[in-house]
Amino acid sequence: MKPATKYIHAGADPDPSTGAIMTPIFQTSTYVQEAPGKNKGFEYARSQNPTRKALEEALAIIENGKFGLAFSSGVAATDAVVKLLEPGDEVIAASDMYGGTYRLFTKIFEKFGIKFIYIDTTNTSNIKKAVSKKTKLIWLETPTNPLMNITDIAGAATIAKEAGAWLCVDNTFATPYLQNPLDLGADIVMHSSTKYLGGHSDVIQGALVMNDAALREKLYFIQKSCGAVPGPMDCFLMLRGIKTLHVRMRQHCENGKIIAEWLRMHDKVAKVYWPGFPDHPGYPTAKKQMRDFGGMISFELKNDSREETMRVLSSTKLFALAESLGGVESLINHPASMTHASIPKEERIKNGLKDSLIRLSVGIEDAEDLINDLEKAIG
Ligand SMILES: Cc1ncc(COP(=O)(O)O)c(C=O)c1O
Repeated sequence: MKPATKYIHAGADPDPSTGAIMTPIFQTSTYVQEAPGKNKGFEYARSQNPTRKALEEALAIIENGKFGLAFSSGVAATDAVVKLLEPGDEVIAASDMYGGTYRLFTKIFEKFGIKFIYIDTTNTSNIKKAVSKKTKLIWLETPTNPLMNITDIAGAATIAKEAGAWLCVDNTFATPYLQNPLDLGADIVMHSSTKYLGGHSDVIQGALVMNDAALREKLYFIQKSCGAVPGPMDCFLMLRGIKTLHVRMRQHCENGKIIAEWLRMHDKVAKVYWPGFPDHPGYPTAKKQMRDFGGMISFELKNDSREETMRVLSSTKLFALAESLGGVESLINHPASMTHASIPKEERIKNGLKDSLIRLSVGIEDAEDLINDLEKAIG
């Protein structure tokens, strides 16, 4: 099946009891059993729920994987992957990535004896150099949040295989519409489904997709043992969101290109971070592994004073000042004080994330209206 057909039909079988075309919301915590252990495959809703099952099948299909697992947030999905590890194990991670992932690694898992090595993954030879006998996981985000850095997934997968480590790729920014890390050799794909998969800023959820059955069993064991499962209503909303992923992404990409190019020509804008520019350092890799460049853009103003940055952030009307991204409506964000505030300032600046950086999640409104809004705000 082609992507558009997959997104609409993945996991969507008519309900056998009624013929309902949409997956019912099985709002139940438990299931009646005929005799102890004699049941219809559902025992207790932390372990199994039919609405979640339909979503997990859909997640696997859209990411070209064999197995999907849904979690109560993107961070919960990341948490489950790190729980595959033992004290003493090492993780190689990107120095530029979502602040909440960095916080989870440094503030929660380091104290359990897991070592995280942060490097610039855009040069895969840095990954190779950082690998040791203790490396068990390589964690990539591409494009990164918020600097839009690109890492070669296939190159990283080769290194991970040689090292006997798992490669997990956070595919939140690209979505399966633009990039399929499993096809490029990754072992696990992670999503903050909260973003483009849900697409309507109304659900917090996470996902993992993988091909290896043994790895699926380990992650399913963590999912049911630690309990960070999404509720059935949220699974229903996610299934509904996925149905329109391709149409939304097409428009996000189209608007993203228009706005990135417009910003670049603006005389008050110093720098625009968007991987679709042929002079972006990650462009050749992005061209190779992505089908288009998405609607996430970051930029800096020439007047990079705090006052001017704050003024622009508070002046847009259509671009709502808010955390998160990937919804149909456009958002504007200040990573240094919002989404990436959990990264210490020195660390942020060292990795290129300045206090003056502004991040846009370009929605699917009319591009001309979005430009008018930015024009008025930037002045
Ligand atoms: C790239 C990326 N990964 C992971 C997450 C965490 O996801 P959630 O907020 O659904 O827990 C986010 C959230 O902003 C993100 O942008």
